[in-house]
Parts: sequence; structure tokens; C-alpha cells
Amino acid sequence: MPMTKASNISTPSWAHHALIRLEGALNRIFGNRLNPLYHLGALGFYFFWLVLISGAYIYAFYKTGITKSYSSVEYLTHDQWYLGGIMRSLHRYASDALVVTMLLHLLRELILGRYRGARWFAWTTGVLLLWLILAAGINGYWMVWDKLAQYSIVTTMEWLEWLPIFSEPLPQSFISQNVLSDRFFALISFMHVTIPLMIVFLLWIHIMRISRPVVNPRRPLMAGMLLTLLMVALLKPALSQGPAIMEIEPGTLGIDWFYLFVYPLLDHWSPGQVWALALGLTLLLGSLPWIASGRKQIPVAEISLRNCSGCRLCVADCPYEAVVMRPRSDGLHFSQEAVVVAERCVSCGICVGSCPSSNPFRSETDYVSGIEMPSLPISGLRTLMMNDLAKLKESPRIMVFGCDCAADASQLRSASVAVLSLPCIAMLPPSFIEYALNEQHVDGVLITGCRENDCYHRLGVTWTAARLTAEREPRLRSRADRVRIRQVWASAADLKYLTMELESFRSSLKNLRMS
Ligand code: HEM
Repeated sequence: MPMTKASNISTPSWAHHALIRLEGALNRIFGNRLNPLYHLGALGFYFFWLVLISGAYIYAFYKTGITKSYSSVEYLTHDQWYLGGIMRSLHRYASDALVVTMLLHLLRELILGRYRGARWFAWTTGVLLLWLILAAGINGYWMVWDKLAQYSIVTTMEWLEWLPIFSEPLPQSFISQNVLSDRFFALISFMHVTIPLMIVFLLWIHIMRISRPVVNPRRPLMAGMLLTLLMVALLKPALSQGPAIMEIEPGTLGIDWFYLFVYPLLDHWSPGQVWALALGLTLLLGSLPWIASGRKQIPVAEISLRNCSGCRLCVADCPYEAVVMRPRSDGLHFSQEAVVVAERCVSCGICVGSCPSSNPFRSETDYVSGIEMPSLPISGLRTLMMNDLAKLKESPRIMVFGCDCAADASQLRSASVAVLSLPCIAMLPPSFIEYALNEQHVDGVLITGCRENDCYHRLGVTWTAARLTAEREPRLRSRADRVRIRQVWASAADLKYLTMELESFRSSLKNLRMS
């Protein structure tokens, strides 16, 4: 297939630029390793576990019944404030933190456009998680059976009643204390166990198509978050708002805006309007992977069986579980062969960089690697690189290998700089670096991609760095002079930084020549 250029750069939107700048500011405060915006999914898991652990403690003391529910929570809050009260507050504030983290995670994936193509799966299961987590939180407020619970449950019933599926008016069941049975409280309590179990199941599905998902934030981040939640718990303990008495209107109430934001809306809008908003938003979010326009994905990876030795390196490096192994089908003496699961592939090309056969410098003609991106074949990349190298006129000559998701490396092209930009920097087979240096086509090689811990394709930067330090196959061989290789990790907003690093690299190459 003909190939004219390797680069598929899309200009970042203003929102993307703003996000990268915000992340840059947080990098300066926390460092790349602990930037909370780089760990939102993992933080979501962490807050959820905190909610489960603190919830299990409260549950051990919780009693079901019209007076018992309220008094058992009061007992924990006041009589056992030093543990039960703290656990209750931790349960509430970790739940709030979970909502904030989840919304930020959603927003970040949205801004980065990581909801299209194969990512529809994580995206739509994420939308379902939104509903379940909000439902679990609202249900949690009913457990306390205070005035807020009374207001919330009556308003919810009025909202649900609008649906044409209920034969009897739902709010009738809550007009007096006498109509509420212990079974009703047992049901609320049962829901508060069942919905979190459903969330656990859905979380497992959510990350099913992601290899090596990061589900635990780094320890200092965990400790910092826990400490903050405990401090808030001590300074502003979670309290009930007086026992529910169904015959008396609850009056003015304090509201948890993270979970109960819909209720003030229900006070002003009709149930039908709120249903339209909730379902409309859910439909819009859920269908986004199919309706939103944006960067078009290039054709997915393809295996060339005659060049595949079944070594599994592509399986190990694919961040999306999109390459699997199966028994050999072509009679060659290898036991297995790689297969691309097309619907999971995001066309990052990382598998091409991992393939030991991706070395187009051994033979000139008809070269095909074991795994290829059909629109960016490895032989075509070689031609692009050689054409750009042939234009170099000034010394020191530098070859820049860049990434389409990071700082726009093509801006660096000049009489002394050749550039090859790839869908992900980890698509680069080490053989390209060795060839450019060892055949003396250039004096130095600069490799650039997304900021550390923030690879657009999750693992590309990690794998590239490990290949360069020979910690991961395919390794950059020792004959490639490390002094002539520089790695610079720079996002789409870091072009200035990348340019400065290039200048500094140029100076060090000049010094090398003189020494
Ligand atoms: C409590 C709720 C959630 C938790 C704990 C959670 C957790 C995670 C984790 C751990 C990952 C893998 C991150 C990695 O290792 O690269 C992930 C990926 C993802 N999540 Fe969530 N998530 C939640 C909700 C959501 C929501 C509401 C959405 C959007 C509607 C969403 C969209 C995504 C997408 C699109 C990915 C895939 C990113 C990629 O392919 O690079 N998640 N999530």
C-alpha cells in the first residue's frame, strides 16, 4: 500500500491545551510520578475500596427499623465518635471524592478523545458506572433515615412515579410512620450491599480490555489522600439532620451536592423534564464513541504469518489486549502464531516496535515485518527516514523520532534535522536507531514522545525507555553509542521545551566532535 507520510498529527483543541497546561502545573508541584490527574482511574478504585472498608465497619453496627436505623447511626456518630464517627465521615467523604475523581476521569478521557474506536467499551461501561455510583450514594443517604432521607426518598418516588410502569402511586407508601415496615428498611439495606457488588463487577468489566491497568495509585498519593479525608472527617464530622417523621415536612436541609444535586432540580422542574435531561445526557454520553467526529483511526495492525515466529512480544507490549496467541495454522515449525483482535486495536503501532523482525535494513526489497500497520508499513517508514536523511546538509546531523500524540516533532525539521513521527513512539523498532547511528547517517538520535506517566497509549513511553536501556525486548544493541542518543518526553504543549532540548543535544554533539 502506498504511503506518503508517517505523521497523523491533529492540532490539539483549546481544552486539550488547557488540560496539558494544568497537568504541567501539577507536575511542578507533585512531580510526574504523583500527579493526581495521571492516576484518576487508580484513585477512583482507591476511594471505592475506602468506601467499602468504612462501609463494612458501619454496617456491623447498623440496625434496620423506623427508629433503629436512625439511632444506630447516631450511636456511631456520637457515642463511638472516635472510631464509628470517623468511619462514617470517611465513608461519606471518600464517596464524595469518588464522584469528583470519576467526573475528572470522564472529562480527561473526553478531552483526550479517548472514547472513540476500540475504547467504546471502557467508555460505555464508564457511563453505566456513573449511574450505579450515584444510585449507591443516594441509597446510602436513605440508610440514615433522617430528614434528608425523608426528603430524598419522597422526591425520588415522585420522580419514579412519572414512569408509566407503576400501578399504584408510590409516594402513598411514605405518608405516615405507620405504613413503613421493617421490611422496607431491610430492602434499603439490601440495596446498599447489592449496588456496590454490581459496581465491583462493572469495574472489572470496565478495565477488561486494558492490559496492565493501573488500579492502585502510588503509595504517597494514597497516604496523602487518606490523610486529607481523615482531616476533613475530624474537622467536619458527617452528621444526621434529625429523625425522619413522615407526617412533618422536613423543612430546610443541608444537601450533599455530589450525590443529591438532582433534588433541587426536581423541586423546580417537572419529573418528565428531569427524566428527559437524565436520559438525554446518558444517551448522548453513551453514544459519543459513534457520533463524535475527530481524528480518524488508521487501519488496524495485521499479522504476516510467514514472518511471525510466535515469540509473544507483541502480545506482551499491546496496551489494549488486542493481540492474542493461537496454535499455528500454517504448518511452520513454531507452536503458536499471533492474531490481531481488530475490534480492540487502536492502531498505536506499539506491536510493530516490539516485533523482532521489524528490521528493514537487512534486505532492500519487499520487506515485510511479522506485524505491520497496513497504512504505515515498516519498509515505507524506512523510505521516509532515508528520504529525510538524504536532505541533511549541515552538521551535526540529528535524526528525531517523534510521536503524533506529543510535541509536534515535524516543527524541528531543518537542514541538520530529519524527522520521523509515528502514531506512538513505541512503534519505533530499535533497529532504526541502530541503523541511523551505526551507518553514520547522523551524529545523534533524539527520541521524543508524551510526558512520562502520561503516554496517550498508556505504555508506549515506558516500553520505549526500557528498550533503549536494554531492559526489554527488542533491546537497543550495545553497539549503538548511548552518548549520541537523547530521550525527551514532551507533550503537545511542550514544543518550546523540546526545541531547547534539541539545541542542548546539538551542543553536546558538537562538543563530542571536538573532544
Ligand atoms: C468509579 C469509576 C471509575 C473507575 C474506578 C475507573 C477506573 C479506570 C481505570 C483504572 C482505567 C485504566 C487506566 C489505565 O491503567 O490506563 C480506566 C480506563 C478508562 N476509563 Fe474509567 N473508571 C471509572 C469511570 C469511568 C467513567 C465514568 C468513564 C467515562 C464515561 C470512564 C472512561 C474510561 C476510559 C475511556 C478508559 C480507557 C482509557 C484508555 O483506553 O486509554 N471511566 N478507568
